[in-house]
Amino acid sequence: MNYFIGADLGTSALKLILTDSNANVINSVTNSYEVHYPAPGWSEQNPEDWWSAFCTGIKELTSNINPDDIKGLSVAGQMHGLVILDDNDNVIRPAILWNDGRTNKETDYLNDVIGKQKLSDCTANIAFAGFTAPKILWLKNNEPENFNKISKIMLPKDYIAYRLTGVHSTDYSDASGMLLLDVKNKCWSKQMLEICDIDESKMPKLFESFEKTSTILPCIANLLGLSENLAVAAGAGDNAAAAIGTATVGDGKCNISLGTSGTIFISSDKFGVDSNNALHSFCHSDGGYHLMACMLSAASCNKWFCDEVLNTNDYAQEQKEISDDMLGKNNVFFLPYLMGERSPINDTNATGMFIGLRPNTTKTDMLLAVLEGVCFAVRDNVEIAKSIGINISRSTVCGGGAKSKLWLKILANVLDIELDVPTVEEGPGLGAAILAMTATGEAQSVEKYAGEHFSCKETITPDNELVKLYNERYEKYSKIYPAVKNLYKEL
Ligand code: XUL
Repeated sequence: MNYFIGADLGTSALKLILTDSNANVINSVTNSYEVHYPAPGWSEQNPEDWWSAFCTGIKELTSNINPDDIKGLSVAGQMHGLVILDDNDNVIRPAILWNDGRTNKETDYLNDVIGKQKLSDCTANIAFAGFTAPKILWLKNNEPENFNKISKIMLPKDYIAYRLTGVHSTDYSDASGMLLLDVKNKCWSKQMLEICDIDESKMPKLFESFEKTSTILPCIANLLGLSENLAVAAGAGDNAAAAIGTATVGDGKCNISLGTSGTIFISSDKFGVDSNNALHSFCHSDGGYHLMACMLSAASCNKWFCDEVLNTNDYAQEQKEISDDMLGKNNVFFLPYLMGERSPINDTNATGMFIGLRPNTTKTDMLLAVLEGVCFAVRDNVEIAKSIGINISRSTVCGGGAKSKLWLKILANVLDIELDVPTVEEGPGLGAAILAMTATGEAQSVEKYAGEHFSCKETITPDNELVKLYNERYEKYSKIYPAVKNLYKEL
């Protein structure tokens, strides 16, 4: 039997899975690491922490398997993060992550001075604070000594691949989120590189996600107990990999991820741009394209409320207090903007907020408001998709939040769509394993294999009465952000 490794370099943890060639998950390992918040709205991680989580995880994952039977590996990962290496391949400073909001000034410069139209012409996207290009400009403006040391620029997952293979590579799906890629033509945008003062020699070589970049270095094979023949595929951004793992491939399918971030991913076989620039226009890891909305805080809102406010990590237990008859009637509302927000409001000043508290409000009402607030924010993005003619009538779901049946029930009713719950929970990891299978020839094509091997364990169907109640709640929720938008700036 042949085996494949899919790695998902998440924000809170690295998740590794080992599959057989029929996409059965044989083993899985999760290793957590810290996110550092050195200033309000900043978020950083140490690439060395990722690497050590990877090395210990791989040994545990593969301890009972003959190394020669493991044929391929690929890494999916958190997008947009800036990892920079010097001439000696040392990491220059901690990675600046996708949900870091420090680049306000640089984002405004790109959107207002360079201009949204030019950005969109060059890259198919406008600037958002979390994208990589504004981070490069921030570094140039604020840490010139670090900027001048840059020899290689890479994305988080590509750092792992680089340590494994010595090949400075990336794939089109992840590269799309840098605001440096000409997404339509799948090449680096010379104009954008010039705007960011980056020589193309510092950029990684581009591959399709399912292409083999190399085999692993012999010294690494030795270190990790793997075969020197192990093929490494270019891998993908975590959302594009999750889309493979949930068979969101080809044209017009949707996957909603409730992870640390919340994403609404719509696959497409043609290149297209959202005229409002609210949805990102990126390459897909199946060789096509996709549109995506990204919320900076989704399952992380529940984690924050339980960990920091309720002082518990038993999320399921807390949710048991929410009875069915409470749904759709909550008078408490929550804006889920703990890290500012990207889609659709593009506002780094926004913060989380409760409104509607009374003396009889319980912690359970507040927890329900948190879960509902995230679903309402997903709906904001689904409404944007609708406004450009994309009608989402069903979706797969993945990410930590999708483990909660209650949360999925709220989501299905807030969106009034059917939600398919995949049998395999590790969407990005499975997607990464499928990319590795394709790179080695075990799978013929990503789209065909993903479609044939997808199964769902349950479909959540909306209920007419509840949909009506949630439509009324959503109408009220929609008025909150516009009312406080200017205040956020002042605060
Ligand atoms: C997508 C995005 C997030 C990260 C989180 O644009 O920023 O989903 O990839 O892992």
